[in-house]
Amino acid sequence: MISNPDTPAPLYLNLASTVQSLIEQGSLRPGHRVPSVRRMALQRKVSIATVIQAYTTLENRGYLEARPQSGYYVRARLPVDTPEPRMTRLMAKPAYVGVSDLMAEIFSRASDPSCIPLGAASPDPSLFPTKKLARLLGSAARGENLTLGRYTMSSTYTPLARELSRRYLQAGTEISHDELLITIGCTEAINLALRATTKPGDTVAIETPTYFGFLETIQSLGLRAIEIPTDPRDGLNLDDLRTALEQHDIKAVLLMPNFQNPIGASMPDAKKQELYELLCAFDLPAIEDDLYGELHFGERRPSSLKTYDRDGRILHCSSFSKSLAPGLRVGWIAPGRYLERVRRLKYTSTLGSPLVLQKTISDFLREGGYDHHLRSIRRAYQHQLQLCAQSVLRHFPAGTRLSRPQGGFVLWVELPAKVDTLQLHAEALAEHITIAPGPLFSIKGRYRNCLRLNCGIPWSDPIDAALKTIGALAQKQLAT
Ligand SMILES: Cc1ncc(COP(=O)(O)O)c(C=O)c1O
Repeated sequence: MISNPDTPAPLYLNLASTVQSLIEQGSLRPGHRVPSVRRMALQRKVSIATVIQAYTTLENRGYLEARPQSGYYVRARLPVDTPEPRMTRLMAKPAYVGVSDLMAEIFSRASDPSCIPLGAASPDPSLFPTKKLARLLGSAARGENLTLGRYTMSSTYTPLARELSRRYLQAGTEISHDELLITIGCTEAINLALRATTKPGDTVAIETPTYFGFLETIQSLGLRAIEIPTDPRDGLNLDDLRTALEQHDIKAVLLMPNFQNPIGASMPDAKKQELYELLCAFDLPAIEDDLYGELHFGERRPSSLKTYDRDGRILHCSSFSKSLAPGLRVGWIAPGRYLERVRRLKYTSTLGSPLVLQKTISDFLREGGYDHHLRSIRRAYQHQLQLCAQSVLRHFPAGTRLSRPQGGFVLWVELPAKVDTLQLHAEALAEHITIAPGPLFSIKGRYRNCLRLNCGIPWSDPIDAALKTIGALAQKQLAT
């Protein structure tokens, strides 16, 4: 419809523009509740329907979000004009991994109540339905068939595997329940997958930067790694991967196609398909860590690499640690054609995974509250991440670059080249703040001017103050 310039804009659009200007000028700040529909209708002498239409328009434009039973809130938005972190170059040759003691320190500080925990990617316990889980755990432990006095001879509680299989099918991926093995977290799944596909001395291709836990595991298994540059938006660079595959004897690729930790990249579907074809061309397996796949901010769960798997070469790993209950340590692996090998390895490493813990989660999923919980935790992560990003931009030195994840809850920050984040980590720790310095995410100690921030904790003034302190410390380094 062509609008007539002489026709006044509808009332709801006028109201939407007024509220939008207040947000853009900063009078209404992210996280603030806007006046209730009723109050706004009274104030502006318009109908309730007009206000609802105005607020819905602003919701569609991304300015407001509706929270059930609570009202409309100003939405924090990731600053789109901030430059993103840069991609590094391909490593010349594979190398053994040296791991820093810093990782253990960061993990141990994650639960230290005297610290602001911006280091470990550890969500705040308040985000999880722990009371309900505790109740289910109690009844699972009392159940007749799962007595605590018996060995677990099968690693997988079938009702849980069936529930997982059903959820995958809903998301467009076919994984039958008997192709799934339950593990102790995603960590064990990755460990088993690496052991099933490689032997000591072999080389694995990994993204760079990558999750430092992978580096620990790779080191502990006596493997070598080659870092493949990874774009902050769409993930692993496939040209570089192809070059590396042509030049080196690589036995497996280990990657996170969705909401990569630490840079938040997500591979589009077409790129996942292309990667799969490349794996087929070189007859290689890939280990997919999809831990953050359910934590999307968009409407739909992104597909996993496993969705494209025609011949069982994808070992798909995940867990409930970031979405439901890190403390229960329930993860899983769909190892494709490596199923029997992984089953044997699981048996020799831990015999099985505790059934009471699996039943607890299975009952939670069966009771039907999981999707509701996921919707609320995704909203919380997105909100926290956006507020953290805005705070970084307020407080960090000019020239700071920032990732723009579309899911998960970690931010990757690239500071001006002169800033040393290992030093920054020590200085921040003295102020009772933890961060994850960039060199932790590389086998070569790259990313000395980068850091990862955990945004899995509810936003508060102390977090803003901690980010301000980190910004001031970085500024001080630049000034000397
Ligand atoms: C990418 C990635 N994989 C695996 C893990 C560990 O998962 P889990 O706690 O299920 O062992 C983490 C934890 O931070 C992670 O970020």
